[in-house]
Amino acid sequence: MISDGKLRLGVNIDHVATVRNARGSAYPDPLRAAKLAEEAGADGITAHLREDRRHISDVDIERLVEGLERPLNFEMAATGEMQAIALRHKPHAVCIVPEKREERTTEGGLDVAGDDNRLAEFIAPLSAAGCRVSLFIGHQARQIEAAARIGAAVVELHTGAYCDYHADGETEKRDAELEALRAGAKLAHGLGLEVHAGHGLTYDTVTPIAAIPELVELNIGHFLIAEAIFDGLAPAIKRMRALMEAARA
Ligand code: PXP
Repeated sequence: MISDGKLRLGVNIDHVATVRNARGSAYPDPLRAAKLAEEAGADGITAHLREDRRHISDVDIERLVEGLERPLNFEMAATGEMQAIALRHKPHAVCIVPEKREERTTEGGLDVAGDDNRLAEFIAPLSAAGCRVSLFIGHQARQIEAAARIGAAVVELHTGAYCDYHADGETEKRDAELEALRAGAKLAHGLGLEVHAGHGLTYDTVTPIAAIPELVELNIGHFLIAEAIFDGLAPAIKRMRALMEAARA
């Protein structure tokens, strides 16, 4: 369905753990941040358990699974280790992302088209366990078509390039990227996929993305945790939500 107007906000709390891990302390606690995010209006919580555990830890995932009221979107690479963890916890959603140790953040989307068979086999047990499987991909038609072909329930479109062009003042490239995201969302929706988007979104970049009618969820983390330093986490989430709602009005 092209939304009832409601656009969900998934709050990614990875970088609460980044700050904690910088000092090897017990605080700030990602679960406490997640509960606060729920109270402030997050529709779900996203956490990425990276292979190198640079932010979220295995114990964080256990505590989130136990302690959250809203759905957990568990981000992970397509590895056997992560699949076993997901099958043990059976989170509401599993978002498969490409992962490279040397990257600072998830740089690009998955190459679903180049890896159909392996990914199809990889996601089948997760879907069978009741997790909504989401693939984090670029807006290219061949990636979207491949995601539909292998039976994913959801695609999350990577908004990182759009945000980077905006930050660099490359407005033509930004607008072309936005147009491609709009076309990608339309194609994905037409193929029966639920469509999400995220990566790098800020108050300045969220509005045109939130206005894409086929989108039903945005996942936002780094900027909200950064704004929390100045404004507090709840006000930052409320302001982001207000921008998303205004874009849909
Ligand atoms: N969606 C996915 C699939 C991601 O990997 C990330 C980053 O972990 C995000 C959304 C959130 O990106 P950001 O932290 O830049 O808002």
